[in-house]
Amino acid sequence: MTEPNHDRLLIIDFGSQVTQLIARRLRELNIYCEIHPYQNVTEQFLRDYKPKAIIFSGGPASVLDDASPRPPQMVFDMCVPILGICYGQQVMMQMLGGRVERGQGTAEFGRAYVTPSDSRIDLLNGWFLEDREQVWMSHGDHVSQIADGFAVYGTSPNAPYAITADLSRHFYAVQFHPEVHHTPNGKTLYENFVRMAGFTGDWTMDAYREEAIRKIRDQVGDKKVICALSGGVDSSVAAVLIHEAIGDQLTCVFVDHGLMRQNEAEEVVGMFRQHYNLPLIHADESELFLNSLEGVSDPETKRKIIGKLFIDVFQKYANDIEGAEFLAQGTLYPDVIESVSFSGGPSVTIKSHHNVGGLPEKMGLKLVEPLRELFKDEVRALGHELGLPISFIGRHPFPGPGLAIRCPGEITREKLDILRKADAVYIDQIRKHSLYDEIWQAFVAILPVRTVGVMGDGRTYDYACALRAVTSVDGMTADYYPFTHDFLGETATRIINEVPGINRVTYDITSKPPGTIEWE
Ligand code: XMP
Repeated sequence: MTEPNHDRLLIIDFGSQVTQLIARRLRELNIYCEIHPYQNVTEQFLRDYKPKAIIFSGGPASVLDDASPRPPQMVFDMCVPILGICYGQQVMMQMLGGRVERGQGTAEFGRAYVTPSDSRIDLLNGWFLEDREQVWMSHGDHVSQIADGFAVYGTSPNAPYAITADLSRHFYAVQFHPEVHHTPNGKTLYENFVRMAGFTGDWTMDAYREEAIRKIRDQVGDKKVICALSGGVDSSVAAVLIHEAIGDQLTCVFVDHGLMRQNEAEEVVGMFRQHYNLPLIHADESELFLNSLEGVSDPETKRKIIGKLFIDVFQKYANDIEGAEFLAQGTLYPDVIESVSFSGGPSVTIKSHHNVGGLPEKMGLKLVEPLRELFKDEVRALGHELGLPISFIGRHPFPGPGLAIRCPGEITREKLDILRKADAVYIDQIRKHSLYDEIWQAFVAILPVRTVGVMGDGRTYDYACALRAVTSVDGMTADYYPFTHDFLGETATRIINEVPGINRVTYDITSKPPGTIEWE
């Protein structure tokens, strides 16, 4: 468990789809919080964690069912403020002696309006800007009798106990979800709650940087660390942070698998050598990777070949670094939550994601993961704090298997060359139209098909390509980006004129789901 260097808030997760958003809202208020699934929150855990306040998340269960999720009764005796949300409200009421009923005709999903009672409380300071406030509801059951000590401070048509509180014990409970976008003023509730709980908002990037550096030094001592640098934001920020902590005890290995975008390998290696002067091995193994992929067209086989070779190659270079005991990884907080979430991760493997996951066990390495507590935008803020160029920090994600999965079917050097050129023109177009930062990810996929065209007076028989651009928050779901027809037309013309080998351009308008962002 992390050391309590700053005030900590505990979010007990009962399985809501939007629990992460609670953490997001709190982090925006410079509050340090962690999400823990309810099963892990034992009495011992609570004693060790020493939360300054607790939030119960929503969840899909019904408190009326046997063995429904519950926190230990002890949470109510810790003399810390508690805020229960949706299921969290219901579980709080039931455990404290109130009553919950199954919703029959009283379920509420979506937008609703809460009106205030006559008496006002600090939790609602600045909240009821009008005589009613829009909130987002998503509940079947509802509280039908509040527990002793509680009073009602807001109601909605189907939730007479939309806002309740026991002011003497600092327990607050709301039926709606203040963390979601559709409760527009929801952040104010969190702000009021943490202020009443005595938080000072001491979670800043500056403080985080200092604390992370100290922790890395404590963990690593005088041992050596190796880091697989991909050129992506996460591994880059992790590398720079660790370098700041332990200097040349860190060596980075950049494995060039020959599936990078145009000039990418040079840019990444150049940037690190120029700005950071950190020990960096540029492992140009493109021949090895491309030869091994020859004749392979099945997506999963491609991914497995690349993943295995990556581990072999990394290991080969790492073995030369004497005394390396640690492997640095850019694991983020959402990955941590996903792997402990009690509702479990996806049960079906859609794609075997390429990462360096197999390395630590194989090489007997311990992990250094200095970004484990951060969300993606916080990693970007930290990168900024560490002086990484803005062009680097804001880069779109790029998958580990690189262009291999943007070249459906067999990969050839010729196709990769064409793809690189087309991709460079497309990204140039996006940047010129100032759209880059609005888009989560944009790239070209070269299709395994040649089509007939006419250029000048001659017939062409060249490859078709597809442009992809999506908006997303986390890559889990995505929608296609609504370019204008003018933009699409201009881009298609430029690609066909400037990239020999392509004579047809299409735009992929599939969302995720049912599609995925990458083509393989
Ligand atoms: P999909 O295609 O699954 O992609 O919708 C979701 C996000 O993940 C990236 N992606 C990967 N990233 N290794 C990675 O590091 C991989 O093997 C991999 N496959 C997909 C993809 O670019 C998108 O951002």
